Amino acid sequence: MFSKPSLERAWVLALGLATTGSLVAAGPCDIYASGGTPCVAAHSTTRALYNAYSGRLYQVKRDSDGKTTDISPLSAGGVANAAAQDSFCASTTCLITIIYDQSGRGNHLTQAPPGGFKGPEANGYDNLASAIGAPVTLNGKKAYGVFVSPGTGYRNNAASGTATGDAAEGMYAVLDGTHYNGACCFDYGNAETNSLDTGNGHMEAIYFGDCTSWGSGSGSGPWIMADLENGLFSGVNPRQNTGDPSVSYRFTTAAIKGRPNQWAIRGANAASASSMSTFYSGARPANGYNPMRKEGAIILGIGGDNSNGAQGTFYEGAMTSGYPSDATENAVQADIAAAKYVVTPLTSGPALTIGSSVSLRATTPGYTDRYLVHNSSNGIVTQAVSSSSSSSALKQQATWIVRSALNNNNNNNGNGNSGCVSFESKDQAGRYMRHYNFALQLAADDGTKQMREDATFCPLAPLNNGQQQGGSTHSIRAWNYPTRYLRHYANVAYVASNGGGVHPFDAAASFSEDVSWFVGAGFV
Ligand code: AHR
Ligand code: AHR
Ligand code: AHR
Repeated sequence: MFSKPSLERAWVLALGLATTGSLVAAGPCDIYASGGTPCVAAHSTTRALYNAYSGRLYQVKRDSDGKTTDISPLSAGGVANAAAQDSFCASTTCLITIIYDQSGRGNHLTQAPPGGFKGPEANGYDNLASAIGAPVTLNGKKAYGVFVSPGTGYRNNAASGTATGDAAEGMYAVLDGTHYNGACCFDYGNAETNSLDTGNGHMEAIYFGDCTSWGSGSGSGPWIMADLENGLFSGVNPRQNTGDPSVSYRFTTAAIKGRPNQWAIRGANAASASSMSTFYSGARPANGYNPMRKEGAIILGIGGDNSNGAQGTFYEGAMTSGYPSDATENAVQADIAAAKYVVTPLTSGPALTIGSSVSLRATTPGYTDRYLVHNSSNGIVTQAVSSSSSSSALKQQATWIVRSALNNNNNNNGNGNSGCVSFESKDQAGRYMRHYNFALQLAADDGTKQMREDATFCPLAPLNNGQQQGGSTHSIRAWNYPTRYLRHYANVAYVASNGGGVHPFDAAASFSEDVSWFVGAGFV
């Protein structure tokens, strides 16, 4: 019916007129409601999903004193108040503790508990996401998405109003199409209420990534698929639907919907006013998927049994009661495009100059004669280095060349730089600083996506405020683990989180100092 984007936009505007009497765009959940398929869960850290919503979007907790605060939209229906987060989290690290449900049903998402798979926290829970991992702008206003690293997950096992059994539902999410992996499972949607794999058909969630353990689409991925439990499906054929294309728009809209013996996969470029495309629409797969046995819990970033090896970024999403029409989803997509998601730098503080030769000196009192050096077994440690008395070999080992981020896909939308960098060894050209099992090491660029992500670091304003060290002090976080910062601990280098982790090097004591580095000229 509304096949042209301009018609959809007009419909969105008309809907706003009809319901509010003023010329404002309706939010995604207003559109779903007017289509007869209201939202029963609405999650976003970036904006209100109802035109009249001015309540809490998400909660952050800061590591300096454990205090929490709620972040709300700047105005009803508007973009999140990112400045409130920035001021609350100044000079410390913050985690996203709650993603509130805007539907009024209380279907909030919190730290996922252990399930069939255990999380990395000491109590088996999954990790929480950093509050600064996924900065963007919406219509020019800054906001933060939810950057899910492996081990991170959110869940609600007691949701109300979500589809159970074979009942109809729909769901959409706006994701980063360049942030994914092949592990199980970066999902958003309907899952088991006990965090266990209770059998085929017990889930119905959006999946995004390039996992090929079950189904796949055409090309090399990533794909939008449905996680229906014990299978990621691109269509009715459990192995492959070539009509499900690889999709990697920087901002990707993904949608899944299902009703008795009918379901669909749809997708679009979230930053373009085009309609959603249908990648599958048809019958349910055989072997336990018809009828469905949905349980109604809600997951984000993990699989039904808490499989938590996947990564991805979530900006907004909702789940409905009833099977939304294609026209309703197209109107939601028009609203997302009108929200104008745009990338913004991942870094803060002064930029590091690409091509420059640098040294990184510790700022922790008592350790300020120590620099980051690689040793002869490719480990990275801190060691005292003196420009006058150290050997030329050691001075070379303490010198790094700043390179454009090896993971050059990381936030740049194909043109422009995120501000993140990689550090190449001065004396071992072609070898770079990377993390592996969270320890730093020197490794060759083997061209793999994993190596390139592990070798990408994002400089930030220093957590110790640059105390006593002058203007070139930086804290430097891992691109793929925004909670983890380049740190020395017992004179060995890691990417470490600010307390809470199971590793000794994640200790909160001395964190701000240990992760603040004076970046000066290289020795050679
Ligand atoms: O369906 C794929 C995955 O299989 C589910 O997310 C998980 O519960 C199971 O391991
Ligand atoms: O350092 C953490 C992870 O450890 C890296 O991302 C991965 O390469 C390794 O498994
Ligand atoms: O790396 C030296 C010291 O070791 C760090 O400052 C401290 O956190 C750890 O005990």
